[in-house]
Amino acid sequence: MGVPRRRPEGPQITDGPRPEGPTTRAPLRQPEGAATSQPLAGRTVVLGVAGGIAAYKAVDVCRRLVDAGAHVAPVLTPDAARFVGPLTFSALASEPVRTTLWDSPEPIPHTRLGQGADVVVVAPATARLLGAYAAGISDDLLTATLLATRAPVVVCPAMHTEMWEHPAVQDNLVTLRRRGVHVVGPAVGHLAGGDAGAGRLAEPADIVAAVIALVRAAGEGGARGPGGDLQGRTVLVTAGGTREAIDAVRVITNRSSGKQGYALAEEAVARGASVILVTTVDRQVPPGVAEVVRVVSAADMQAAVMPRAPQADVVLMAAAVADFRPKAPAGRKLKKEDGPPPILLEPTHDFLVDLGASKPVGQLLVGFAAETDDVVANARRKLRSKRLDLIVANDVGAPGVGFEHDTNRVTLLGGDGTESSVPLATKRDIARAVLDAVVRRLPTQGAAP
Ligand code: CTP
Repeated sequence: MGVPRRRPEGPQITDGPRPEGPTTRAPLRQPEGAATSQPLAGRTVVLGVAGGIAAYKAVDVCRRLVDAGAHVAPVLTPDAARFVGPLTFSALASEPVRTTLWDSPEPIPHTRLGQGADVVVVAPATARLLGAYAAGISDDLLTATLLATRAPVVVCPAMHTEMWEHPAVQDNLVTLRRRGVHVVGPAVGHLAGGDAGAGRLAEPADIVAAVIALVRAAGEGGARGPGGDLQGRTVLVTAGGTREAIDAVRVITNRSSGKQGYALAEEAVARGASVILVTTVDRQVPPGVAEVVRVVSAADMQAAVMPRAPQADVVLMAAAVADFRPKAPAGRKLKKEDGPPPILLEPTHDFLVDLGASKPVGQLLVGFAAETDDVVANARRKLRSKRLDLIVANDVGAPGVGFEHDTNRVTLLGGDGTESSVPLATKRDIARAVLDAVVRRLPTQGAAP
């Protein structure tokens, strides 16, 4: 609709008449050049609040954004204003709350808000809000602003588990992710009405961390950032070693730390992707990751990956998935007095083979091979047998390489016969090289179905 490109440094939303109340305020605690304590200094964040019980937590999000130096323009839907008083936001934010397209002296508040934003964050995002946004319906100021912006958008869904799991809501999220919208949360926990489950608003600190990560990534420019070379792509990453139960307390596992998978997730976010991380490890999740699924065993990982993989443009199978598991794990703790148990193993299912066989046209499937001998030959065999586009081969026996280390050295083998080595480097640098190779192979956007 001919919206001019926003200015990179984002004008503060200070010009034009204001509907009511206080004038635009400077961020709280505004030291000069406060790059580290105020990572959002000089940035305009439109904070959208939709009508859910979690709307009260948006007050905390607002305060944290202001504390981080952002100029915060709050926009409430009419339903949000039933849950939390607009005055509360007006008192905390940098501008008075707006709730409607109609009672403002500005003729087109949504375009001014949309064009002036460096980031738009919606917390909570209800099922209705997500549905309207995905369908392109602009029936209130918030949805109109979402359609009128070219800034990166973060939505933080919050709703009851049944609603969250409804295929309509999940389909809308697939659509939004495909368009480059960042999804933060929801978390699992207490919900309204004494219920518990998936659908709880992500923690305000995590929401603000995601906003900061996006702004930082945008500042890096070039191939990186929300407008980066993975903008609009969904990247699914698996990380860590699986754990297979022997009994109620003991497991068989491997030495994978998940560091390489997390570095891939972080790099993919920095290049603008919407990232789904399926992980067995309890490391700090990189800010900006859209969905985190925690799993334990190979079977759990398979159950998490298989339904999500078809929506992904890129699947990075960095996890060290167990090849064998105890055939009959005991449901209780085995006792020492009974002597060493005979542990009969059975194979796990290699679901990377399934991903290769069912790969949608245009998807890029990347495997990882941890080897101690004949690294390249073994990796090339896996590349072919699993029908991968790319495999990242690791000599895990070499010093400073592979499991648990902060550095890695890999060989990238392409399905097209190419081979390139990446010398010893940090896992983030390795992630960069892997994603460079991925981007070179991705079909141009719109060409893939
Ligand atoms: N993989 C998988 N499911 C399994 C085992 C492995 O999806 N049950 C994936 C890994 O995530 C990795 C790739 O397959 O991306 C290669 O894993 P690796 O353990 O190196 O090779 P395997 O095929 O298991 O062969 P081997 O253990 O004999 O080297």
